[in-house]
Amino acid sequence: MNLIFAVDGNWRIGSNGKMLVTIEEDLHRFRRITEGHIIIMGRKTVEALPEKKPLENRVNIVVTRNKSYNQEGFIVLNSLEDLFPLLKEINPNKEKEVFVTGGGTIARQLLLFSNKAYITKIFMDFPEADTFIPNLDLDPDWKVVNESEVFEENGIYYRYVDYGRIRW
Ligand SMILES: NC(=O)c1ccc[n+]([C@@H]2O[C@H](COP(=O)([O-])OP(=O)(O)OC[C@H]3O[C@@H](n4cnc5c(N)ncnc54)[C@H](OP(=O)(O)O)[C@@H]3O)[C@@H](O)[C@H]2O)c1
Repeated sequence: MNLIFAVDGNWRIGSNGKMLVTIEEDLHRFRRITEGHIIIMGRKTVEALPEKKPLENRVNIVVTRNKSYNQEGFIVLNSLEDLFPLLKEINPNKEKEVFVTGGGTIARQLLLFSNKAYITKIFMDFPEADTFIPNLDLDPDWKVVNESEVFEENGIYYRYVDYGRIRW
């Protein structure tokens, strides 16, 4: 299982239900990496999608405790315990990769099952942000396996850093 997130200097990812910034090139990359695969999101992340629509060409899974939640184009899960049986059923040969795409609560619960993380590091700080994911630079179970050069878009500097799990 993979994580894919954009973080600020303190691994914050969102503020008041929204993303911290929009970096178009990062969104293209997100699409390139996740297309054709399975993505898992918490209900709050889905609420923040444009028109709450599923992302095209991907199997979209949403997690919520609300048993009557129904969102067209999403497989709804009421418990993360149901995730692995579901993945076995819909992806028996593991042809598709699985990406945890948001938000903080889902990332923290599924980190333990993840072995790769695609992190976009934004060189900014958003102290007002209210959502974060664990800092993998401080986690001895993870190491950087790939690091891009620094890019710039509309005055925002960022780089892509891939992490791999080195022990469970
Ligand atoms: N920077 C990035 O890359 C990135 C990516 C995605 C999202 N974000 C940001 O992250 C923020 C949202 O993250 P968040 O942590 O607040 O919310 P979230 O993880 O998207 O969703 C939380 C919701 O998921 C459901 N949930 C969580 N654990 C569950 C479990 N074990 N079983 C059943 N349901 C469960 C609950 O839904 P119910 O309340 O319906 O029960 C919970 O309220 C937003 O600001 C968003 O823009 C940033």
